[in-house]
Amino acid sequence: MEWFRCQSAARSTLRHSDAEEYSACVADLLALEQVQRMDMFIQHGRATCLKHSQAVSFLSYRICRKCKLDYRSAARGGLLHDLFLYDWHDPAAGGRWHGFTHPKAALRNAEDILSLNRIERDIIVKHMWPLTPAVPRFRETWVVCLADKIVTCHEFMEGVTGRHEHWNNGKKLYKTD
Ligand SMILES: [Fe+2]
Ligand SMILES: [Fe+2]
Repeated sequence: MEWFRCQSAARSTLRHSDAEEYSACVADLLALEQVQRMDMFIQHGRATCLKHSQAVSFLSYRICRKCKLDYRSAARGGLLHDLFLYDWHDPAAGGRWHGFTHPKAALRNAEDILSLNRIERDIIVKHMWPLTPAVPRFRETWVVCLADKIVTCHEFMEGVTGRHEHWNNGKKLYKTD
């Protein structure tokens, strides 16, 4: 029992420091008005673009940290990867070719508000591979590609089952039944 308590304490400390480190990676981005505007648009199911991007960002951060990759760039690129800022369900708003065009729209918007490193740029513009043919150049981009697909599947399943849960920093962001 004592051993179990020690293990639990160690795990919760790790989770706490993980959350703090993750927040330090993306805090300045989350303070930007354009990034907050992502919360106005639904991405999949009931998840807004911002909640979707936070989930992709945090999962990418965790994987890259574990694999000793550039987790900061992965977290930042993951948060900005869908910064296209329109309702993609509306064909008139730019949704018709959305799957193919939104990575470049997101890159344009991101470069308008801050300077990106080459990994962050690669993540944003290539995260839709293989739908868009440009092959990811960095391992961090592969991780975000994978995280985006995992989170998207999760959000679609939530849409089908009617259960909605989102995690960020190890905490549920919201849950509705
Ligand atoms: Fe996307
Ligand atoms: Fe996405």
